[in-house]
Amino acid sequence: MAKVTFIGHSAVEVQGSTHSVLIDPFISENPVAQVAPEDVHPSAILLTHGHFDHLGDAISISQANEIPIVAPFELAIFCGEQGAHEAVDMNPGGRRKFDFGEVHFTKAFHSSSFEGRYLGHACGIVFTTDDGKVIYHSGDTELFGDMELIARFNAIDLALLPIGGNWNMTPMEAMEAVRLLKPKAVVPIHYDTFPVIEQDAEAFKAAVEAETEVKVVILKPGESYEL
Ligand code: NI
Ligand code: MN
Repeated sequence: MAKVTFIGHSAVEVQGSTHSVLIDPFISENPVAQVAPEDVHPSAILLTHGHFDHLGDAISISQANEIPIVAPFELAIFCGEQGAHEAVDMNPGGRRKFDFGEVHFTKAFHSSSFEGRYLGHACGIVFTTDDGKVIYHSGDTELFGDMELIARFNAIDLALLPIGGNWNMTPMEAMEAVRLLKPKAVVPIHYDTFPVIEQDAEAFKAAVEAETEVKVVILKPGESYEL
């Protein structure tokens, strides 16, 4: 059994049978987070891209827990320079087994930088827990047709998809992403954190569940979903 806890925005903790990973740990500056960076003790941190609302507290959590950060190449180099305990570089197409689970980087249609420094490709991540549950975190992205290819090679149990718009998909594009990805369930993310990305998640849930077989799980910050 795996458990996904929504910290808020795009930050989630994925708990497998013995290990957990933190994806995009934007916590201390996150206006909706209910926890502090000191409260989380994952086995690893996975980053989709370098924007402040995804890199977040990755460096301090890596140091405090003596855990690796796994990230796209240029971002991993940057994390190493910033003092991460360990930085592991990957890039789209890569698939690697760790003791905490398998990490597969996919493409995303977005940018990646921090305070003006270019940080390589923005990515999505397919993470398989140490007990075999497959979770796709798209990162920030526009809808793209190759989501269909991600579904062909990965039987997705849960997809975490942005619906906020402005910097990534609106609910309309996220609905089409659900059709392409064919996950068992979807958790909408990256909305209602700031006024510019306010969205009606209940309307998204109603629309997706009316038009597809996919279940939409709306999580408030701090809530979890077991799969
Ligand atoms: Ni971004
Ligand atoms: Mn973002």
